[in-house]
Amino acid sequence: MDTVGISEDGTKLVLIDQTKLPGEVRMLQLSSQEEIREAIYSLRVRGAPAIGVAAGYGAYLAAREIDTEDYGEFLSRFKEKKEYLASARPTAVNLFWALDRMERVVTAGRGKPVGQIVRELREEADRIRGEDILCCRKIGENGVSLLKDGFGVLTHCNAGRLAAVRYGTALAPVYVGMERGMKFRMFCDETRPLLQGARLTAYELCSAGADTTLICDNMAAGVMKKGWVQAVLVGADRIAANGDTANKIGTSGVAVLASRYEIPFYVCAPRSTFDLNCKTGADIAIEERPAEEVTDLWYQKRMAPKEVRVYNPAFDVTDAGDISAIVTESGVLRPPFTSSIAELFKREEQSPDLGRDS
Ligand code: MRU
Repeated sequence: MDTVGISEDGTKLVLIDQTKLPGEVRMLQLSSQEEIREAIYSLRVRGAPAIGVAAGYGAYLAAREIDTEDYGEFLSRFKEKKEYLASARPTAVNLFWALDRMERVVTAGRGKPVGQIVRELREEADRIRGEDILCCRKIGENGVSLLKDGFGVLTHCNAGRLAAVRYGTALAPVYVGMERGMKFRMFCDETRPLLQGARLTAYELCSAGADTTLICDNMAAGVMKKGWVQAVLVGADRIAANGDTANKIGTSGVAVLASRYEIPFYVCAPRSTFDLNCKTGADIAIEERPAEEVTDLWYQKRMAPKEVRVYNPAFDVTDAGDISAIVTESGVLRPPFTSSIAELFKREEQSPDLGRDS
């Protein structure tokens, strides 16, 4: 079952409601802008690539609702709807990347009948989804070369198949390795406060038959010190031009620990997660979420004093200097990342379909 897609009649976004996992596998069918934005904001669909795919279909479904034959009016109403979807979450660049791709279809369509532009939007959304599947597969094939049979692998948050359409990013090398008969001992950080590691990564790895151990976030150092971890694999929400990487809160701490214990720390992400407009991680907008996620969620009753101030950033930035390599669909980037990333995108300009052909 894919994490996110479109209904057969093309009128609804179909996704697994990730807020219900692992207890219940509930599929949602959404058509209105309000429902789709809410699903992204509430993390019913989450993970940078999956958010991008949902946004692509969201923009297509929004365009279907615009009842006009006038191109100028269509364009301005499309832009309003696009901005509304874009306001769902600020950090994962795939949201904006997908919406910008959709807008380019509309601007390139000037002079065409509106109905044809809407059909082309559907095709573009399908392409975004199809590319995600191919990119993640390639990330898996490129990343597995960094792993050896029997490795202990630690991951943070969920960058598996639930964060993309299939395979995922950080877990793709693990799945490809397992297909090839390799065995790994997986450690998932539970990932406070929303428990993506406990609820989602542990669920999908166990379903895939992987040897999986769940740990609280504050246990990573102890597990590393015991020598149980030979590689760390994480995903990314936005990667700056110098390699600084925004990912789920807690990731940068794991990277510092990995560096302390001389364990390679790998970021796995498609090119769509790079944002060269951000020179460094300091330019990346970090989402802050409601205090109740820290004080109330998962507890039978509130576990912190009412008057306490809460700081709840959803992401942090791992310094490029703590990253051993970035695995993309086009290959494995090594430090210094400013030049390896620039080189990757220079090659892309010359050969835009690189890495998306198999
Ligand atoms: O808040 P979330 O659950 O959307 O955060 C997700 C992450 O931080 C993932 O690690 C990241 O999006 C990479 S997903 C392949």
